[in-house]
Amino acid sequence: MKSLFGKLADGTEVHSWALENGGTRLKVLSWGGVVRSLEIPDRAGRYANVCLGFDTIEDYVAGSPYFGALIGRYGNRIAEGRFTLDGESHQVDVNDGANSLHGGAQGFDKRVWDVEPFTEGTDVGLYLYRTSADGEMGYPGTLRTKVTYTLTRQGDWRIDYEATTDRATVVNLTSHVYWNLAGESSGTVHDHELEIAASRYTPVDSGLIPTGEMADVAGTPFDFRRPKTVGEDLRAAHQQLLYSKGIDHNYVLDKGITGEPEHVATLKDPSSGRTMKIATTEPGLQFYSGNFLDGTLVGSGGTVYRQGDALCLETQHYPDSPNHPSFPSTVLRPGQIYRTTTVHSFGA
Ligand code: GLA
Repeated sequence: MKSLFGKLADGTEVHSWALENGGTRLKVLSWGGVVRSLEIPDRAGRYANVCLGFDTIEDYVAGSPYFGALIGRYGNRIAEGRFTLDGESHQVDVNDGANSLHGGAQGFDKRVWDVEPFTEGTDVGLYLYRTSADGEMGYPGTLRTKVTYTLTRQGDWRIDYEATTDRATVVNLTSHVYWNLAGESSGTVHDHELEIAASRYTPVDSGLIPTGEMADVAGTPFDFRRPKTVGEDLRAAHQQLLYSKGIDHNYVLDKGITGEPEHVATLKDPSSGRTMKIATTEPGLQFYSGNFLDGTLVGSGGTVYRQGDALCLETQHYPDSPNHPSFPSTVLRPGQIYRTTTVHSFGA
């Protein structure tokens, strides 16, 4: 089901698609490929929207902190927006202090995508297409991107990312959904239980750029190898938490890069019973504990979003990889196909 959501200042129409399958209901915008809402039942069968979002396109354009959006060309930060590729140096858009964040000021999250619905066997979904011109936001190469959102018969939400380029470039696509399994507008996620299959994470400097180290989570607030509430160690006096006002760190997933999506994280809200499992082909997971939600935005549920009212689990390659040869490479060359998959499975 397609409907008009609103218009951008230049008159461009933004559409909203509503899909349902296997008990999961999804609403997606052509602007940023934004997941505006995702509704799932609790243990008593009561539905709630578990994603932060807004009711109007004006709110999204005016200041969305990437609510539900597709992130490109490069998820998370590139130090000073600079990197060297095949001996050539590139300067991409700097939009976060001295650094580049989430593809620059006009990243994929703020672009209108071409959206095409599909039905395939028992799956329903959307194909989202966008061609990013050579030089857009400073990135080399024409990047042709196709993202597939699938709702399966089991109610899983699967994302397949694909991209090709005509010049060597770097790519790191992800999805920036803010989750609150008790329901958007229900308060903080500090009592959610989280498990992440990662023994190491990438510590950052004060600008949230990885130092290059892969540190053990053992004995630190970053240890989620066994289920732990999100809030348990969030107030620990740890320098890394001070830099990012909470957790905003990349986890080095133990499984590494895989050809097929493998389980990496489980999130559970004990009050509603809702659970979400994440499986991915990617080697990293950015766990962001909603630190910068500061009570200045009114969400779709009509309440103000405050710090910790949701969390993000962004499957990705590591931040600033183009400047860290020891990290898995984010380079894409002509003739290669960038392909990653992430699956969200829900239960109660
Ligand atoms: C990512 C970044 C954070 C922040 C959020 C959105 O998770 O790492 O620092 O920018 O996106 O506010």
